Amino acid sequence: MWEKLAQLKKKYLSLLEKVENQEELESLRIEILGRKGVLTSLLKGIKDLPPELKPEVGKQANQFKALITSLLSKKQEELKSKKEHSFDYTLPAFPIYKGKLHPLTRVTKEILDIFQHLGFQVFTGPEIETDHYNFQSLNFPPDHPARDVQDSFHLKGEYLLRTQTSPVQIRVMEKYPPPIRMISPGRCFRRDTPDATHLPMFHQIEGLAVDKNIRFTDLKGVLGEFVHAFFGEEVKMRFTPSYFPFTEPSAEASISCIICAGKGCRTCSFTGWLEILGAGMVHPNVLKAVNYNPERYTGFAFGMGVERITMLKFGINDIRLLYENDIRFLRQI
Ligand code: DAH
Repeated sequence: MWEKLAQLKKKYLSLLEKVENQEELESLRIEILGRKGVLTSLLKGIKDLPPELKPEVGKQANQFKALITSLLSKKQEELKSKKEHSFDYTLPAFPIYKGKLHPLTRVTKEILDIFQHLGFQVFTGPEIETDHYNFQSLNFPPDHPARDVQDSFHLKGEYLLRTQTSPVQIRVMEKYPPPIRMISPGRCFRRDTPDATHLPMFHQIEGLAVDKNIRFTDLKGVLGEFVHAFFGEEVKMRFTPSYFPFTEPSAEASISCIICAGKGCRTCSFTGWLEILGAGMVHPNVLKAVNYNPERYTGFAFGMGVERITMLKFGINDIRLLYENDIRFLRQI
């Protein structure tokens, strides 16, 4: 019995040393301390020993049991902390998302950049405007529907939230003599019910060039440069007649549909063309309003909606997505 106990001790202490994981440890525990474990059966056998041996063997066996129990749990702790601190270098890394600018900010910067390269200077104007700058000086007749409280956010007295960035044209021309090459981004406000293509707050970019001998071909040339730089060399541009109070003649510029390459699809309503901006030759009344001589100077102007351009560029079908700031949406763009 002594010998058997000594052998067990030797064998299992060295086996315990070699244990490498929880499963091995558990099966070793069962082998020693389980219901049919070696130590369990040894302890059971004590009752059959001669009475004079029982106390000493019992004591030794219980000591061994206590030792092995504490060693087993020590080993268990060891394995656990090893597991916690081990690092699997073959695991794929977590994706790292870098912060980036909002699509509207990026598109605005890109557009301004293109026009700045063409010699246009950036100006900004106030979001709270007067009727004079927002409408009157831009040749809107007094009864024009846009002046209605239904269409504009009117504030106290003559003030309103600007409905367009065109008033910045007036402010720049008032301040500087010709020649002018200016571009102006900013927020605009209209009483619109939000839907897939309208929001009561949106952004426009306004452009203006005034000089001697500015002609419609200059407008076409500048906007053609912009369209090709922004949408791609292969994209075609066309002008169709339109109407704005502050330009004469007025036009709308469209590009060949960037989704279907002009073949016709849902985005372009099966026309092959996407309208991207309004433009025209500055109306003589507008030049007169800022004391420019319309006999000496002519100009072209254009205005585009930043949300619309952004939606076309990235294939976004609902303007409201641009304002929800859902990180899953923003990450895609
Ligand atoms: N302000 C116009 C609008 O809100 C856009 C526009 C059209 C601006 C033609 C212009 C222009 O400067 O020439 O619809």
